[in-house]
Amino acid sequence: YRIAVFASGEGSNFQALAEAADAGKLGKAEIALLVCDKPSAPVVGRAGRLGIPAFLFQPKDYESREAYERVIVEQLEAHGVDLVVLAGYMRLLTPVIVEKFSRRLINIHPSLLPAFPGKDAIRQALAYGVKVSGVTVHFVDEGMDTGPIIAQAAIPIASGETPESFAQAVHAVERELYPEVVSWFAQGRVKLEGRQVTIGE
Ligand code: GRF
Repeated sequence: YRIAVFASGEGSNFQALAEAADAGKLGKAEIALLVCDKPSAPVVGRAGRLGIPAFLFQPKDYESREAYERVIVEQLEAHGVDLVVLAGYMRLLTPVIVEKFSRRLINIHPSLLPAFPGKDAIRQALAYGVKVSGVTVHFVDEGMDTGPIIAQAAIPIASGETPESFAQAVHAVERELYPEVVSWFAQGRVKLEGRQVTIGE
């Protein structure tokens, strides 16, 4: 079972997934490919150190989103990818990828969706003053953080919490939750009917 991770930045989730795979926690799944739209991002160095192949591209070298997504789809097919995992990939996808990987395309978002979609969810949640936020893993559709929800974890927001301290708490939860969800996919346990997701035995 082969996984591609799409990331644009730090790559702490990418690293957690790669380490979980190495530790046998993803069952028979392996991280087969990193796809990154920012060749200078720290995640690229992580892939190098982990010996994971990377497809790097710059959107400005293509005439449209669809044009580079067609090249990405070729890469995914060449690497025999079964599941696409977005982990801090800072671009909306078009139907070129969304339709090709329908039901096999997931994202992690640092809020309890549908609250605080889009960029800067952690700051948005603290600015709003909510007392609980968290992490959501969901299927990806063409909207911004709108696909069917697979798993959520709540995290209380303590008084005096800063965006920095809360981001640390979020990342710690993400490092546990995302590998667990990916392991469910590798075991064929995730069922989707309409918006309803169930995790089988
Ligand atoms: C994570 O907080 C994730 O929820 C969001 O982007 C961040 C990526 O962090 N979508 P990293 O690049 O995995 O460290």
